[in-house]
Amino acid sequence: MTVKFLSRFVDLQPPTSDFRQDILAGLSGPQKKTLPKYFYNAEGSRIFEQICDLPSYYLTRTECEILTGYKSKLRDILPANATVIEFGSGNNKKIKLLAAAVGTIRSYVAVDISRNYLIESAEAYARANPNLVVTAICADFNYPIDLDEILGVGPRIGFFPGSTIGNLSPNDAIVFLRNIATVLGPGAFFVIGVDLEKDFQTLIAAYDDVEGLTAKFNLNLLKHINEQLNGDFDIRKFQHRAIYKENPTRIEMHLESREDQKVRIDDKIFHFFVGETIHTENSYKYTIESFQYLAISAGFLACAVMVDPEKLFSVHVLEVSR
Ligand code: AVJ
Repeated sequence: MTVKFLSRFVDLQPPTSDFRQDILAGLSGPQKKTLPKYFYNAEGSRIFEQICDLPSYYLTRTECEILTGYKSKLRDILPANATVIEFGSGNNKKIKLLAAAVGTIRSYVAVDISRNYLIESAEAYARANPNLVVTAICADFNYPIDLDEILGVGPRIGFFPGSTIGNLSPNDAIVFLRNIATVLGPGAFFVIGVDLEKDFQTLIAAYDDVEGLTAKFNLNLLKHINEQLNGDFDIRKFQHRAIYKENPTRIEMHLESREDQKVRIDDKIFHFFVGETIHTENSYKYTIESFQYLAISAGFLACAVMVDPEKLFSVHVLEVSR
């Protein structure tokens, strides 16, 4: 891979997670479960991008509308000439919207654990903005990373769009946010997209779309396991389930066994009863107040919150307490 436009690539060499170990352990307990990061092989990432364009998956569209519609508010609060640090950089669509709102940014830093995807998307952003200093940092932002050496002085804006925070339980989200606060440092801003609690019909429609894409996304996990770990899941024998739960409000995704069956992964056998599920994802939903409470517990000040007219999604601007 040629890294031509990218100004800097810093590899903090995050420990690579053990797919096999994680899957075997997750399928060995009384409630079988897997980690959501394993959805995102090449095919999973492709299906996820399609989900983001679905009419019923309001999250992406609404977050983009908020970032566009509240440009002047964002510009009022956020410092100009800041270094923008995006965590889990993903595609470049949303950083473009934030950059357009803020006006001028000094440099862009993409932090992601997935090395190739990171370099690819940071490189694309650098190519489109040849005058901008673009840095890619391969790191696991669940652990402390010292950005001071890499970033130098000047205002900082952290950016974490997409309601990715929803994959964490509220307690884990506090730990995560505390770590982000430490990484960014006192006085830094943090712009985070958070999906809102709402009627369960709208939520179910978003996570069990009529087009069947979320089912395909969920079931693709089993294909990923088959391919990478020498498994023999018959995906026709599993069914996508999206379940609305409260206290705290969330959507749970499961893969439900359609029959009594045995599945082999390499040399290990797993038994499934009919109706038994693998819990594959949590997607926690917040109210404006419940998320602010969480952020404040983690060492942030709540500066502003922007929501769409239908109150489907929120974008919070937080500041790391000094
Ligand atoms: C990427 C975690 C924000 O929870 O809405 C989409 C993933 N799962 N459809 C979400 C997802 C099913 C998504 N996040």
